[in-house]
Amino acid sequence: MNKKNAYLTFDKDCKKSTINKDIYGHFAEHLGRCVYEGIFVGKDSQIPNINGIRKDVAEALKELNIPVLRWPGGCFADTYKWEDGVGERRKILNKTWGDVVEDNSFGTHEFFELCELIGCDAYISGNVGSGTPRELSEWLEYITYDGESYYSDMRRENGRDEPWRLKYLGIGNENWGGGGNMTPEFYASLYRQFQTYARSFNKEKTFKIACGPDSFNYAWTGELMKHLNEYNADAIALHYYTLPTGEWEKKGAALNFPDDEYYATMYRTNRIEELIRNHSFVMEQTDPEHKIKLVVDEWGAWYDVEDGTNAAFLYQQNTMRDAILAAINLNIFNNHSDIVMMANIAQTVNVLQSVIICREDDTRLIKTPTYHVFDMYKKHQNATLLASSLSTPELMYEGNYFPMISESVSIKDDKIFITLSNASLDTDCELLIDGGSKFKIIESKVLDSDVREYNDYDSLENVAIHEFKDITFRDNKMIVLLPAHSVVSVLLEEEI
Ligand code: AHR
Repeated sequence: MNKKNAYLTFDKDCKKSTINKDIYGHFAEHLGRCVYEGIFVGKDSQIPNINGIRKDVAEALKELNIPVLRWPGGCFADTYKWEDGVGERRKILNKTWGDVVEDNSFGTHEFFELCELIGCDAYISGNVGSGTPRELSEWLEYITYDGESYYSDMRRENGRDEPWRLKYLGIGNENWGGGGNMTPEFYASLYRQFQTYARSFNKEKTFKIACGPDSFNYAWTGELMKHLNEYNADAIALHYYTLPTGEWEKKGAALNFPDDEYYATMYRTNRIEELIRNHSFVMEQTDPEHKIKLVVDEWGAWYDVEDGTNAAFLYQQNTMRDAILAAINLNIFNNHSDIVMMANIAQTVNVLQSVIICREDDTRLIKTPTYHVFDMYKKHQNATLLASSLSTPELMYEGNYFPMISESVSIKDDKIFITLSNASLDTDCELLIDGGSKFKIIESKVLDSDVREYNDYDSLENVAIHEFKDITFRDNKMIVLLPAHSVVSVLLEEEI
């Protein structure tokens, strides 16, 4: 194995932004086997469940401390009629994802019950593509109004007395595409109209999120921002998916990928940093104080669907490559937590870069390598980002350089938490870490399987977290031997 050197410094006294816990958010859409089968199996299922919600899935998500869940889409949200999913349910066609029958057995009540079981906040995507401001306004009344009214009484008749708390409301989804193919000018006007009536009755604020850009569409951000201000919007939502080839027609395989596709994936995923910087710069032109934040409410790897599965269900396996990809993205979000207030990986169960894979005919679930990264990183939630500086070797894909090592450092309750990844396939890295004083290690963990390894029913623990031991001290500096293709976390305490 080859070896290179890198150098990381951090300053425990130079505190930056709070890493909003919602950066560790998730997204569940009525798509394929995510909600139905993945999360909701119905009360009569043989799978242990609580009112139809898979017990093991809710528990595994709770264990991850998932802070917020976005629902019901995605593109599905822009055809969703909330009244179909409360009281007597209406069977409809899911015209967005494969024309399958959607029986609406998972609706508003089930979603909020799921959030309560997980212990997370709710993020609802409202329908702007084909819905009306009135429908959205009535849904908010149903969810959040405490007093007596037609819709809050309806909620009570349907079994829920207390209103629920809604932390985030998305006003539209991908309205530049599947959400109505709108121009930014047209959407911005609609946004202003919808948000006027999108009143929540919660005591705590419901944050309003406008549909932001697709990947590199800076023109959308610029035009939209001209129409937003701190009184009508709290954030705009960026979507960026990592496709190994960069081509929607042939994205690349989830399994057995060649080395160059691995490096293409790493290069493309690192571009999220350029997107955050550039969109922030565009936003600054009309909002110099960044009163309006950025959320990345869809991100992750998007591969070709697994052979033999329904192409509209977007099912893909998840390897150690995905773990490294997740680690890089989360480090970048942490490092930009001054502007990134939330991020939601797509999607929670059985769809795209999921943290869980499961089937309705098996009582076990598979925790993917991505699950383990969210588990390793959870100590960053609501911690304070520390100033850090990294000197790293670079990797190259088709003439484009990107960092071999990624990092972020935070502090909470006087403990310092460092997360690292090494994206090289064949080079270990001796990383010298200098935090300016003497530290002791409280806990250190590693994921370092081969990048093509994954977990499955016959190998549930193939990719699993292990204790990390390759740390030594030289004076007050730490030397971490980061294995090739690995993710590492280290929790430290200053020695006094
Ligand atoms: O996550 C799958 C789909 O990707 C979502 O429905 C949509 O918003 C995006 O294009």
